[in-house]
Amino acid sequence: MSIFSFFSIFRKNNKSHWDKIYSAHSSEQLGWHQEYPEISLELIVDTKLGFDAHIIDVGGGSSRLTELLFEKGYHNLTVFDISRQALHAAQQSLAEKAEEIAWIEGDITSYIFDQQYDLWYDRAVFHFLTKADDRLKYLETLNRTLSTNGHFIISTFSPEAPPKCSGLPVVRYTPESLQKEIGSEFELINSRDEFHQTPTGTKQKFTYCHFKRTSG
Ligand SMILES: C[S@@+](CC[C@H](N)C(=O)[O-])C[C@H]1O[C@@H](n2cnc3c(N)ncnc32)[C@H](O)[C@@H]1O
Repeated sequence: MSIFSFFSIFRKNNKSHWDKIYSAHSSEQLGWHQEYPEISLELIVDTKLGFDAHIIDVGGGSSRLTELLFEKGYHNLTVFDISRQALHAAQQSLAEKAEEIAWIEGDITSYIFDQQYDLWYDRAVFHFLTKADDRLKYLETLNRTLSTNGHFIISTFSPEAPPKCSGLPVVRYTPESLQKEIGSEFELINSRDEFHQTPTGTKQKFTYCHFKRTSG
């Protein structure tokens, strides 16, 4: 088997994993579901970006974040996800508001965007990239796509969280290890911890970091 076919099979499996999860569960049943993503909203508002800023929720799934940002007045919003089922679920719950949002289905480790964004938001996506090569590709995409002085808000499992999320292994980060991973072109502006309660009552500790691009 060529290296190319090995990686295509891996990507397909990753996509079908997520499609299956979103087909089998309602948004409220998902372990990472948040009715009100308070810390994310606070960090986004703290960037002081205007309502016309271009904001992308990478691996946004069926999160309520975009709907809540739209209700606040932000109007250049994009949701990106590998899973068509996830995007479909999000569109259903937004009903007619879905037409005001841009939706992109793709793999963040390889997608080529045709525009730049002022804010790249990622909750619980980067931490699934357990291979150094995939992290490198993600960061290449980020660096290509984030505007000069753009903001990068990322949330991952912290070292005290379980080693798996959605049945898949994850890399757990502190603000320091994230800074090391993403490089010195990004300055850490703020970090927050969150004890997320899953629908089954378990608590998972997340680390949230707000980075600002300083060069590149
Ligand atoms: C744990 S969920 C988090 C969803 C959302 N960010 C939230 O906080 O509710 C991870 C999401 O990342 C998406 N995802 C996983 N790997 C991806 C990839 N390589 N490219 C784009 N999206 C991906 C999944 O489909 C899923 O929606």
